[in-house]
Amino acid sequence: MEQSRRGFMGKVFGAVAGVGAVGTLYAMKKSWDPLPSVKAAGFTTVDVSAAEPNKMVIEKWRGKPIFVLKKTAEMVAKQSADETARDVIVNGEHFLICIGLCTHLGCIPAYREAKQDFKCACHGGEFDASGINTLPPPPSPMVIPPFNVKGNTVVLGEEGEAYRKMKDAGVLA
Ligand code: FES
Repeated sequence: MEQSRRGFMGKVFGAVAGVGAVGTLYAMKKSWDPLPSVKAAGFTTVDVSAAEPNKMVIEKWRGKPIFVLKKTAEMVAKQSADETARDVIVNGEHFLICIGLCTHLGCIPAYREAKQDFKCACHGGEFDASGINTLPPPPSPMVIPPFNVKGNTVVLGEEGEAYRKMKDAGVLA
């Protein structure tokens, strides 16, 4: 009896903690989301002209968190060809744009500005600033969603020329 009561209380506590975590994430998303964006019929149009280098912002597309990270000139200069191949270029500026879910079991990794990389708190996985997995257990890079660059904006959910080029080059595999 005592056992099942404890089990029940554990479930209640877990549910309350879960609701709290969602509330916290929502509050964090709100404060991390300074970029103007428009959502319509499966597309999210993000104006990246106000993005600051090395400051990650989280957008939302089809219910998924989308990481938008403008790289600094130093980051671009020192990165590998594989990393550059994943960059989304908007008016000559390099961005990481990817679905912000760890490819291990789907947690949301945190961006570490000082190290310029991502750490997943669930099982310790790491990704570089291009979303490429650098420390297991994540088995693959974070996924780049379909995108189309139009002027200062990036339309998420639309396959533009740059996205198709990444696809043809095997970058998205
Ligand atoms: S879910 Fe990210 S390391 Fe396991």
